[in-house]
This record gives sequence, C-alpha cells and structure tokens, in this order.
Amino acid sequence: MSQQIDHVLEETRLFDPPAAFAAGASVASREAYDALYKKSVEDPDAFWADVASELHWFKKWDRVCNKDNAPFVKWFEGGTTNVAYNCLDRHLTTARKNKAAIIWEGEPGDQVILTYQELHRRVCQAANGLKKLGVKKGDRVAIYMPMVPELAIAMLACARIGAIHSIIFGGFSATAIRDRVHDSDVSCIITADGGWRRGSVVPLKAAVDEALENCPTVKNVLVVERTKNDVSMEEGRDHWWHDVMADVSDECPAEELDAEDPLYILYTSGSTGKPKGILHTTGGYMVGTYLTSKHVFDLKEEDTYWCTADIGWVTGHSYIVYGILANGATSVMYEGAPNHPGPDRFWQIVDKYKVNVFYTAPTAIRAFAKWGDEHPAKYDLSSLRLLGTVGEPINPEAWIWYHEKIGRKNCPIVDTWWQTETGCIMITTLPGAMPAKPGSAGVPFFGVQPAIVTEEGEEVDAGHSGLLVVKEPWPSMLRTLYGDDERFKEVYFEKFAKQGWYLTGDGAFCAKDGYYMIIGRLDDVINVSGHRLGTMEIESALVSSELVAEAAVVGFPHDVKGQGICAFVSLRGDAEVDDEAKEKLRAHVAHEIGAIAKPDQIRFTDALPKTRSGKIMRRLLRDIAAGNETTQDTTTLEDFNVLAKLRESEA
Ligand code: PRX
Repeated sequence: MSQQIDHVLEETRLFDPPAAFAAGASVASREAYDALYKKSVEDPDAFWADVASELHWFKKWDRVCNKDNAPFVKWFEGGTTNVAYNCLDRHLTTARKNKAAIIWEGEPGDQVILTYQELHRRVCQAANGLKKLGVKKGDRVAIYMPMVPELAIAMLACARIGAIHSIIFGGFSATAIRDRVHDSDVSCIITADGGWRRGSVVPLKAAVDEALENCPTVKNVLVVERTKNDVSMEEGRDHWWHDVMADVSDECPAEELDAEDPLYILYTSGSTGKPKGILHTTGGYMVGTYLTSKHVFDLKEEDTYWCTADIGWVTGHSYIVYGILANGATSVMYEGAPNHPGPDRFWQIVDKYKVNVFYTAPTAIRAFAKWGDEHPAKYDLSSLRLLGTVGEPINPEAWIWYHEKIGRKNCPIVDTWWQTETGCIMITTLPGAMPAKPGSAGVPFFGVQPAIVTEEGEEVDAGHSGLLVVKEPWPSMLRTLYGDDERFKEVYFEKFAKQGWYLTGDGAFCAKDGYYMIIGRLDDVINVSGHRLGTMEIESALVSSELVAEAAVVGFPHDVKGQGICAFVSLRGDAEVDDEAKEKLRAHVAHEIGAIAKPDQIRFTDALPKTRSGKIMRRLLRDIAAGNETTQDTTTLEDFNVLAKLRESEA
C-alpha cells in the first residue's frame, strides 16, 4: 500500500480539459460542479427530485428517500415507473425515434443497427414471448448470452414486464450457472447456441445443458440462434427465440412498477466462497445511471458512445444499456475479442463508427500498449472527444499512453470508481469541469459522500490512506443481497453500524486537493483484468478437486492484468507433484468457475504457513507471490521451515 501512495505523491501532472470541450460540457466549470455538489448533499431530496423529474413516472413518488429502516433504504417511495419505458418509449415521440439506439458489430464483422423505434418493437415482442412462456412480474430470468443485440433486448424485455434478470457472464462455467440458478430459483434461462470469440464458437447452450442437469426450477430455455453450431434441444423445455417471437404481438405496454420493485440481480465475488446476489431496484437505479451517464460521459445528442465491457458485468448493465439508453444516446456493442482478427480491431471500430466517447478498462489499455503503438496509429481516431476507464486502478504510465496514443492529447479522461453494489459511478472527474490527475479517480459524484476512515471509524486527514466508506445513502445503491438481508447488513454495514456508513471494501487516499485515489481491495477479493474474483471462491474450487488437500489463493502484481492469481496448493498424499497436476488443476478451476479464474501460478507446497491458531497467513503468501521480502511479523508462524520451502517452490 505505502509504495503506491509514494508513487501518487510524486504525481503532480494535471490535465485540464481542452477549452472547447469545457465550453460545451454539461457541467462546464469547477464552480458549476461545486454548486451542484453542495445542493446534492445539503438538500439531497430536492436534488434527486429534480433529476427524477427529467424522467417518466406513471405516478409521482410521495417521498424521495426513506431512511427509517436503514440500511434498508427506499427511494422514490410511492412512485411508479418503468426503466424500459424510460429507455425506449420516452424517446419515440421525439426526433430520437429513428436514431440508432444500438449499433452492434459481431466478431465476424456482421452488423445490426437498431433504431429506438425498432428496438422498442423488438423489446415488446420479446416481452410477449416471455409472457407466452409463463414468465411473470417478479420471476427470475437468467441470461447467459454472448454480446448480441438479443442480450440487450432480453434485459429490456424483462424490465418491461417486471421480471428480474440475473445475467451470468458468458465466460462462467456450468457450475457457476447452476449455483446462481439455485440461489435465486430461476424459472427461465435465455441463452444462445454459441457466441464468437477469437474466431471460435463458445458453446453456451452446452454449458446451460450441463448446468440444468440439476435445476428443477427451470421450466423454459429460450435459445437465440447465433453461431449455428449443433445444439441439443430438449422437447418442451427448450425453444428457439425466433420461433417464439414469430407469432407474438409487437405491442406490449410497459408494466407500471413500484420504484422499489427489483430490476435485477447480479452476482459478484465477496470474501467467502459464495458469490453475493446484488439486488438493484427500479427507480433509484434508473435515476442514478441516467444522471451519471449524462454528466460523466457528457452525452451529446449526436454522440456515438462505446463501452467495451461485457454486459455480463455491472459496467455493461449501467453503461451499455440502462444509463445510456435512458439518455437517448447511441450505444455501440461489439461481440468479440479486442485482438481478433488483429490487435487493431477496437481502433478499426472507433474509426468505422466515428465513436466519440470511449469507455474501457485499464487492463485493456495495458494490453494495447503492449501490442504496439502502430495499431491505433493506422486509424483516424479524431472523432474521439472523451475517454474513460473503469474497474481497477490505472497506473499513470497506462494513463499517459491512453491520453497520447488514443486521445491524441485532445480528450479528457475520466477514471470512474464504482462497484456492482453502487450501481453507478461514485468517484470521478467531470470531464469539462476540472483537470484529471493520472492514477486518481477524482472527486465524489453528486450526492455521494465518501470518507477515508481508520478501522476505528476515525476520519483521517488528507494525504493519509484508510478505509473508503460512503456516509449517506444514494439512489442506485444495492438494496440487499438476494435472499440474504443478514449477510447484506453484515458485509456492508456492520463494521460502522453506529455511524450507518457503507463499507466499500476498498482502501483509498484523499489528497489535499480533494482527489481520491483508490488503492485496491482490503478484503479477499482480487481484481484480475478488471474482473472481480474472490480468492475463497478459487480456493473452494481447488479443494473440490480430488488431488488437493489444502489451498490458499492470493493476488500478485501483473503487468497487463493488474493482478494475477497465485495458488499455493498442498496435494493429497498420493498425488504426483508435476506439470500435469498443474494443468489438471487449472482445467478444474475453469470448469468450476470459468477460464477467467484459472491460476497464473500454481505453487505446490507440503504445508501452508499458519498462525498457531491455525489461520493461513495470507499477507505472507502475498509477499512470496510478489517476490517481495516479507514485511509481516512472522513470530506467530507455526512452522518456520514452511517459509523457506515456500520461497523455493517454483511458480
Ligand atoms: O476495487 C475497486 C475496483 O473494482 C471494485 C468493484 O468491482 P466490480 O463490482 O466488479 O465493479 C467493477 C466495475 C464498476 C472496486 O471495489 N475499481 C472499480 N473501478 C475502479 C476500481 N479501482 C480503482 N479505480 C477505479 N476506477
């Protein structure tokens, strides 16, 4: 931690927005930001009521924020609305009717452009298709799909009828699907035969079939035909999307939903082996994603906006679909890998569609820098006017590369800090209002009241690091963990129950200029290529292999991925310690969780370092994995020999 802070202290470069950008920005000066921020924290009800009034409500709310039962907070209580209505119908009586809502490009180069009118028609059709399969308001629908237009259509169709979607990233395995389906009693799954990734078909339907061997609650599987690979279709359970949609009406009024009706569940990793089902509701989430999209991406009517995330993660939920369409903007969606057929694919897309606002992850930026400057240099990137990053800390070197080689020194960069739990961006710079500082996310967004505190809940002075908390509720915050109110309270609110603060799980630092820098997770969560993974989840996957007696997983610094995964494993007595065992274990983790969780390093060891009370000394393992000298006090180590042996163990 201290190393990174020293690094930041040296960071004195500030990058002002270009004057022309600032002049046209929705928040155009520091003074404008300060005034709005002040209002948002001094009179949050009035602030959020104004924002919500820009959207459509069937019935206006009675109360903006009800904290009576905190941390179970309600926003826009008594109001009824519909997120899909606000993303679609709201625009149909305006010039946006025939504007592109989604510009989609498949990995093989095929293309679909859906206007707001056409997207509305397709969403209504899909909503009726779901109804035909018996899906009702409140039912849970799992979505396990490639990045195809039907994914956005399926989400909006669920939102339209009040079904709760639970999107499972297409890189997760059958076991991960099964766990999520069980946890929320899913009745219907929407999937595809496959998706394209680096020229190959990812067999999604096959993974669903494997998952469903043991999922009695699932009555229907809706299958989009994408790759035309052979799939098995179970009579009565499995239906082709195009068959179901062929004979349903394309008119479907949006359900009038309560502001606090659930919109979606999205599972994310925590400190235990079991992923948490983050629950977001309708009104507050809509208002939060709408406002952040508007100001952080400074969306203009003529903008083409591209977020490269997969919709399977929260970034795609909030900033490919809901927040962007609620603003009536044009959202680009790309199906495949950034380096297929060549490492210039993204720049080709930016050039082709004249993308104006581009939002990606630091891990991608580091990979692009590694692949070589010549790839972006070949293209006309002059349409770009704003760049963004999300998901993990960005190192200043990668920031500067992004600024120079992609932004051509002409685009502000917003480094946006937020979480699946927060629903929308919480800390960032507003691109026209203030300078950016490489490596620092920036200042709190409207209505967000962060603080850096000690373990004891004392606020630290500027320039000191500590735990990042949020002091007051905000509209798009998670409402609970699906089916587990107790765990929700325990994970996020127990530590500072007296103060009622939300614990983010991140360590951070606020400089004297008020800019927050996020240092990283303080819990057993690691951030691999911007994907959040629980070390305990990977450990339980490892120990479920018959080869393994015990395992401990830690993150280590990785040039491109941000963090890599290092597993210390002790095998059962008769298992051979060899490369074959390593490969078997990697494959096993891929099968249990997904390829993203495969350890980069597996180190075999006879024993794991433990305290006398039997706790695995993770800090020490982190030092070893990083190749650092141990900074931890080892006097409580049970067996000193273990340490020496671990250092000898080969990666
Ligand atoms: O550690 C922080 C890191 O990602 C975590 C949240 O991960 P997830 O819920 O998967 O959401 C990712 C996309 C919003 C945070 O606790 N993180 C996210 N954005 C940043 C970041 N770390 C540093 N800088 C960021 N901009």
